Amino acid sequence: MSNDSLPSSNSRPDLDEVINVTSVHSNRATAAASREFRNPGADKEPLSIAAFGLCAFMLIVGGAVLGKTSGGMFDYQASIKPNYVRGKAPGMADDVALPPKPILDLYVKKGQSLYSAKCNGCHGADGKGDGANYPSLAGSAWATGHSERFSQVILNGLQGPTSTGKVFGAGVMPAQGGGMSAQDLAYIMTFVRNSFGNSVGDVVSPEMAQAAIDLAAKRPNPSAPVNAEELKSYEKTLPGEKVDPSTMIDPISMKPVAAK
Ligand code: HEC
Repeated sequence: MSNDSLPSSNSRPDLDEVINVTSVHSNRATAAASREFRNPGADKEPLSIAAFGLCAFMLIVGGAVLGKTSGGMFDYQASIKPNYVRGKAPGMADDVALPPKPILDLYVKKGQSLYSAKCNGCHGADGKGDGANYPSLAGSAWATGHSERFSQVILNGLQGPTSTGKVFGAGVMPAQGGGMSAQDLAYIMTFVRNSFGNSVGDVVSPEMAQAAIDLAAKRPNPSAPVNAEELKSYEKTLPGEKVDPSTMIDPISMKPVAAK
């Protein structure tokens, strides 16, 4: 071995027998420890649960105060004008207010569809009957005369003879009052009295029609049709306040509108 392989002074201090390796390494981090990543927060206290809870509490309360929907930041009522009414979406059925019409016209219109459902089949769409089995309502003295008498024919049915003295082939008209409301009776009577060339010009009000229903209920034999003899006791105008046929009413509610 040459002398070259011997340690020359301090180039390999670990091999130098005069060096105490332990003391040389003692104030330096070990090799393993020096390879670790440093953890900068390792010496700090963690956030306390009490501080965390306090923050959560303040956010919840603050959110409730600012975000409440009446009087708060997002109050819809505070952001619209007083008495503002939102319009209906276009295309909805009654987005166009229908103009009021005279009560006579609207009652006749309503009565027409009820007549189609209840009376058409026998008396015909033109109200003229068929001359053999069913009498004409056009020009009928009982349809256009005392409203009391007309109402009792509808509500109870009729056993001939008719107003002209004629008995029709069918012989008897069945009662039509079953399930008929006072309002519907008022519509039908008003329609017949002012259609087919009839022009009585009056309006049978629901109040009058109700009086007719009450009268029918008081008959001695409510299940039998009326006849010409009994009808002589119904020669009055139905009681109730007289309605001006030109009264303007709303076509939806069928109630009078305030004059503008
Ligand atoms: C099932 C058939 C039938 C139906 C439905 C019917 N009627 Fe009649 N109606 C008759 C017949 C039949 C007479 C005649 C009775 C007779 O000759 O005995 C008559 C008679 C009448 C009369 C008497 C006419 C006159 O001048 O003497 C009036 C008014 C009348 N009907 C109104 C109505 C109304 C309003 C309705 C609907 C609510 C109606 N009728 C439904 C068959 C019917």
